[in-house]
Amino acid sequence: MSFELPKLSYAYDALEPTIDAKTMEIHHLKHHQAYVDNLNNAIAGTELEGKSLEEIQKTGTDKPAVRNNGGGHYNHSLFWELLTPGGSKEPVGNVKAEIEKIGGFDKFKEDFSNAAKTRFGSGWAWLVKNSDGSVAVTSTPNQDNPLMPVADKQGTPILGLDVWEHAYYLNYQNRRPDYVNAFFDVINWDKVEELYNK
Ligand SMILES: [Fe+2]
Repeated sequence: MSFELPKLSYAYDALEPTIDAKTMEIHHLKHHQAYVDNLNNAIAGTELEGKSLEEIQKTGTDKPAVRNNGGGHYNHSLFWELLTPGGSKEPVGNVKAEIEKIGGFDKFKEDFSNAAKTRFGSGWAWLVKNSDGSVAVTSTPNQDNPLMPVADKQGTPILGLDVWEHAYYLNYQNRRPDYVNAFFDVINWDKVEELYNK
């Protein structure tokens, strides 16, 4: 059973003006599809074939093609679910309570934005859940993520922001900070809470 490109639950133009339709379409149909195809090729006939996508993050990343494309598939699959037209503006429930413990929502926004803006080159900013239930902000290069043993900071991703240029260049060009600021308008905090409670 091969991995497949997940369908989006909203139209490509649903996140405008934060993320434009053309960027969404290319990002999903071209970039994400390529990660899926390359991951399937990389694991075909290996001991990783048939493993879950989460398991592949934890055990397959000693192989560069699996690390890059398995990470790419996992990260993007999560990312699409974390976006919603209109956004829900602020954290809810347990995530809201945990964010309070690390300084509150404004401090979180500042820390998360800094992680996203200062990640050199391509990568991701994350909010992760630690094993004790606390949350923390971190970032990873390329298509790495905090499930991977190679990550500086381990944890379960509950919010992620793609800061590769392919995620924003058509609309924002070199203005990554503007893209990062706008991201807060389309976050699906209900989904973040669902991931935290899993
Ligand atoms: Fe991407």
